[in-house]
Amino acid sequence: MPPEKTDMGGYALTENAPLAARNTLRVNARAHLLAELRDAAKLPELLDFPAVRNAPLLVLGEGSNLLLASDFDGTVLAMETRGVQVEQDGDVARIAVAAGERWDDFVRWSLGQGYAGLENLILIPGTVGAAPIQNIGAYGTEAAEFIESVEAWDTRERRVARLDRAACAFGYRDSLFKHEPGRYIVTAVRFALPRSRELRLDYAGIREEVARMGVDKPAPYHVAEAVVRLRTRKLPDPAVIGNAGSFFKNPVVDAAQAAALRQQHPELPVWPQADGRSKLSAAWLIEAAGLKGQREGDAGISNRHALVLVNHGQASGAELWAFAQQVIATVAARFGVRLEPEPVVVGAR
Ligand code: EPU
Repeated sequence: MPPEKTDMGGYALTENAPLAARNTLRVNARAHLLAELRDAAKLPELLDFPAVRNAPLLVLGEGSNLLLASDFDGTVLAMETRGVQVEQDGDVARIAVAAGERWDDFVRWSLGQGYAGLENLILIPGTVGAAPIQNIGAYGTEAAEFIESVEAWDTRERRVARLDRAACAFGYRDSLFKHEPGRYIVTAVRFALPRSRELRLDYAGIREEVARMGVDKPAPYHVAEAVVRLRTRKLPDPAVIGNAGSFFKNPVVDAAQAAALRQQHPELPVWPQADGRSKLSAAWLIEAAGLKGQREGDAGISNRHALVLVNHGQASGAELWAFAQQVIATVAARFGVRLEPEPVVVGAR
């Protein structure tokens, strides 16, 4: 019998709920309680239930940046709020978007309205509410550049907080929300999008792709199309094979270590950072360690892109996590660099 769902008006509750369809790594884990939230105003009421208040909470968007290493013995809060509101439409539009909106839908809508900025960020899975948390980025652009403020429920102060960009402390795949885990539940994100901007074509083959498309004066939607082509070619589609995008962050090391590695491995891609440190290509390190396309049971590294952990079918969260740890250990032994997971890993033992 499927678990019973109780509608509470604005949200619905299900006990012992399956999560397989709610995480793109397709881990067959369960939640003690699943709360599907459609109305953000009901959040305080929901959080006040003793069963919710006294148990761990996991906020879930599309589950595209998540590894459930075991069942979740608490409440999974699925953000299903919707709504896009243009608050002001001058040279720079101010747009408030509900946390539960799909990121890619919002990007396509924004381009369709003639706003620029998000073109390099097309086709990233996940929700708008998740975007500020790991400051999603691709092809030389990060979401933080266009986020004016984030609205969140502050579970500590028990009030709505509006955090401006500086308060969000954005960094590479990083923000305040990662440093104070559990404190804020993002309910909406305010963007400031220009009508035009200098297009970012320098990163990873975009210029070449635009030229291949036969376009010599690209508009934002041309860049978006080029990114769609690049991503589709490079990254495995979660609808076809379970994955959570890049599973490892590109490690940032001090300049001396980068130089030493570069001397031994002249092909290693190194990107100098503003602070003098150097970002290394984790994909290169993983591939050079011979792990691309490797698997153990149904857990493996994609044969298309070395950063992507894949579930070939029935891998459990624990098996995927064990394989990821093997990758970390192998790269550390070979290159002396410690990779860190990029997605949220929940329930790791
Ligand atoms: N490379 C390999 N083997 C591979 C893939 C790549 O050696 O299998 C090397 C190549 O030398 C390539 C370099 O790695 O030039 C960089 O590869 P890519 O352009 O694919 O970028 P990435 O650094 O591996 C990052 C993001 C991606 C984002 C791309 C494009 C992180 C953790 N990942 O990957 O983001 O799409 O750049 O901007 O920063 C994600 O976060 O889920 C994600 C997919």
